[in-house]
Amino acid sequence: MTRMKLAELLAKKSGKRMRKVFSDPKKNGVTRKPGSEIVTDLDKEINTFVIEQVHKHFADDDLVTEEAEAEDRPGTFRWFVDPIDGTDDFVWGIPLFCISIGCADEQGMLFGIVYDPVHDELFTAERGKGAFANGKKISVSKRQPPELLLRFAGRGYSEEAQTEDRNLCDALDPLFKKQRYLGTAALMLCYVAAGRGELLTLTGTTPWDSAAGSLIVTEAGGRVTNFAGTPWAPDDHTIMASNGLFHEDLVKRISDR
Ligand code: IPD
Repeated sequence: MTRMKLAELLAKKSGKRMRKVFSDPKKNGVTRKPGSEIVTDLDKEINTFVIEQVHKHFADDDLVTEEAEAEDRPGTFRWFVDPIDGTDDFVWGIPLFCISIGCADEQGMLFGIVYDPVHDELFTAERGKGAFANGKKISVSKRQPPELLLRFAGRGYSEEAQTEDRNLCDALDPLFKKQRYLGTAALMLCYVAAGRGELLTLTGTTPWDSAAGSLIVTEAGGRVTNFAGTPWAPDDHTIMASNGLFHEDLVKRISDR
């Protein structure tokens, strides 16, 4: 089995568990992390399940996951896993969350899988082969100024990430009359890839939030950088993913703010 096929199977299996627990929230314990971040028992369960399954098939692969310590295995493949992206939505009963699984090799992101179990929507991309939603090719929107534009946004939990996001609104509001904070970075990236908005900005982002979705956006024809305009890399803490038609203008507005 290829790594990508395995990731797809794990995403679907984990999604089934999410649907079950979401319909019976009493079965799911919630713990507060330092600050305002929370984690559920199901986050931890899926995190462990994915790590075990990946190592069963590819013992040397390295995993960077939200709910476990980073590994340091000798292989050239590195996985980035967010077991439930949109934990707050999940806990508050909002049906918008997903599992995000990306994998990189020495040349960069190799594939990305994002699965939204409530809407049964599976976003996939493999380097050089395009992006898909449930097997149908997707591409970014063609809207650009002065048309009406929509920006998705997310902010990290640190003070710095919150302030940076507030500043962004001042810089970008003149262009984007529609703003959406959906609470799940990976799905918002996929929505940009599918042309459901023109931009996503994230402050305080992490590799597990953004790795899979970043490839899905670029394979759908979009552009993904940090706020300085450099191609996004997993250790960047900011990300902007756009349809690529006015990305330079966006970088300039952000750097001039
Ligand atoms: C969060 C979501 C949110 C983003 C936060 C992330 P989680 O992930 O992706 O949209 O703004 O920075 O931490 O905690 O639900 O896995």
